Amino acid sequence: MNVLFLSPGYPDEMAGYVRGLAQVGARIFAVGDHPKESLPAETRAALTAYVQVPGIMDEGAVIDRVLGEIAQHRVTIDRVESLWEPLMLLAARLREILGVPGMSVEQTVPFRDKEVMKQVLDRAGLRTPRHRRCRSKDEIWAAAEHAGFPLIVKPIDGAGSADTHRVDAPEDLDAVIDQVRHLPQVSVEEFIDGEEFTFDTICGGGRVHHHNMCWYRPRPLIARQLEWIDSQTIALRDLDDPFIAEGRKLGFAVLEALGFETGFTHMEWFRKPDGEAVFGEIAARPPGARTSDIINYCADFDCYAGWAEAACFGSLSQPRERRWNAAMIFKRARGQGRIQSVQGLDGWLHRYGEHVVKLDLLPVGAKRRNWKQTLISDGHVMLRHPDLQTTVTMCNDFGTDVTMYAG
Ligand SMILES: Nc1ncnc2c1ncn2[C@@H]1O[C@H](COP(=O)(O)OP(=O)(O)OP(=O)(O)O)[C@@H](O)[C@H]1O
Ligand SMILES: [Mg+2]
Repeated sequence: MNVLFLSPGYPDEMAGYVRGLAQVGARIFAVGDHPKESLPAETRAALTAYVQVPGIMDEGAVIDRVLGEIAQHRVTIDRVESLWEPLMLLAARLREILGVPGMSVEQTVPFRDKEVMKQVLDRAGLRTPRHRRCRSKDEIWAAAEHAGFPLIVKPIDGAGSADTHRVDAPEDLDAVIDQVRHLPQVSVEEFIDGEEFTFDTICGGGRVHHHNMCWYRPRPLIARQLEWIDSQTIALRDLDDPFIAEGRKLGFAVLEALGFETGFTHMEWFRKPDGEAVFGEIAARPPGARTSDIINYCADFDCYAGWAEAACFGSLSQPRERRWNAAMIFKRARGQGRIQSVQGLDGWLHRYGEHVVKLDLLPVGAKRRNWKQTLISDGHVMLRHPDLQTTVTMCNDFGTDVTMYAG
């Protein structure tokens, strides 16, 4: 099984997925724009070949280079894989050119264009927020009439909640239109109030082999706007909980409507106070910001190797058992500059240390990350517990009792 893998050096999680491919016996031919020496040693060791291109986003040049290398070395590629959102279409183009199975360009577009995505789901009768594609100020105003206030203005293909705005009233709309002027087009959507969850799957051969649901606390848009918040993502143990039943049903229906066959999916959905589940968005890749790890801690699973098996062979043979709520809390330091101290950690660990599975905070002396540009803040802790309320309490206490100071 020869796999052409795009961008093994970024995002960081790719090291895990490369390791997974090697573990299931694939020969990995990788392409990326990082120097080979900068890749983790384990990644380098797992690769059969690595081609460094000047820019991985330069689709035409990457395609030419890949085809040249394949011809020169006479390798047959069986799969083309990419788990990074901006490269999904490039991977699809390469599949079509090389004639290998997997998502075509046509199948990929609904996962990249949030308007096409919701149109497909609307046709299948699934609940999406009222939405419109807009390319001008007039279109945004017309879409606002259709969506009503409050509403959301966001990019058609955004990530990390960048350029996403909530608009509460008509008098605020012109200011937001100014702020999104640099985007050629946007989605204008009805604002859905409620809790926000994920529905993540690994599929193979048209079957959902593994699914996972996370609870975001608070909702990502709020976490992005308020610096003092330490955001939490909790992979839920009990997927039969009636509280999330509608969203789970919606998740399976969305995959069906999109005709998804093989690979990782990451969907976000809203649960309104009356219980209704409303679609948010879906991507044909794993969730970002280390969420793969809590998927694993939740079910004593290795989703890196699990995805690789599904991608290469359509199956998932690993045993799994959902025994834990697995949570991740990102910590943002107070103040700017370099980390000076961490307060309250010893006491928190004394109370909850036995439930902690990973602790990775920036060390004293390290420069703070830019909280507006990173989802991973200044570090994180991962913990797990069978009881959800206990899990939430441990997370909240990490937020309130542990403080990193920068200066
Ligand atoms: N229609 C909506 N109603 C309420 N909130 C919304 C709506 N659309 C987006 N949001 C909020 O904005 C956030 C970012 O929007 P969305 O998930 O569509 O974009 P994104 O930038 O691709 O996110 P990411 O890649 O981080 O998952 C959502 O997680 C949600 O909190
Ligand atoms: Mg999102």
